[in-house]
Amino acid sequence: MVKKNTCVFISGQGSNLNNLILRSREKNFPIKISLIISNNKKAYGSNYAKKFKIPYLFINTNLHNYENKILLNLQKYKISFICLAGYMKIISSNIIKIYKKKIINIHPSLLPKFKGLNTFSRMLKNREIKAGCTVHFVNEKLDSGNNIIQKSFYIKNNDKEDDLKRKTQELEYKAFPEAIIKIFRYS
Ligand code: GRF
Repeated sequence: MVKKNTCVFISGQGSNLNNLILRSREKNFPIKISLIISNNKKAYGSNYAKKFKIPYLFINTNLHNYENKILLNLQKYKISFICLAGYMKIISSNIIKIYKKKIINIHPSLLPKFKGLNTFSRMLKNREIKAGCTVHFVNEKLDSGNNIIQKSFYIKNNDKEDDLKRKTQELEYKAFPEAIIKIFRYS
């Protein structure tokens, strides 16, 4: 099996990145992580790039030519698939057009509920019964592309934001790799 050259975009902790790197080292996992891009100089996730010796680029998205930089590097590293793992910047429509149906994102809610930020506080305020995560294709609208996989759990009475975050992330570590396997199984 030829693994797809994949770029993971991050902005922060990178725990999903770490999980994807570990899974991608399995023989039959469909992707190889060939590049990591961050828009945050201080992203803790950059440590995983060092640890696993994966090319890593900080690209300052405040600069006017940042989109070109991203595209040039995606070409340079022959990237054919993109995972957004806690990337806090909207991907530009040019990149989405070029990588149509080849960009996926993980979001900490059961979409279409709670698009955007601060999902856990909004869920608690709304007295939601269930929380969870969604892996979906990225299109031009925020958190709106077709869903690939969702995983959920019941919110307990005493759950706080931190509890929801922890439980959601545990599900994310299962959902992201499963979504990737699902995509490539049928392609
Ligand atoms: C995840 O909870 C994901 O759902 C959201 O950002 C968070 C990233 O966490 N989009 P990490 O950087 O992978 O630890």
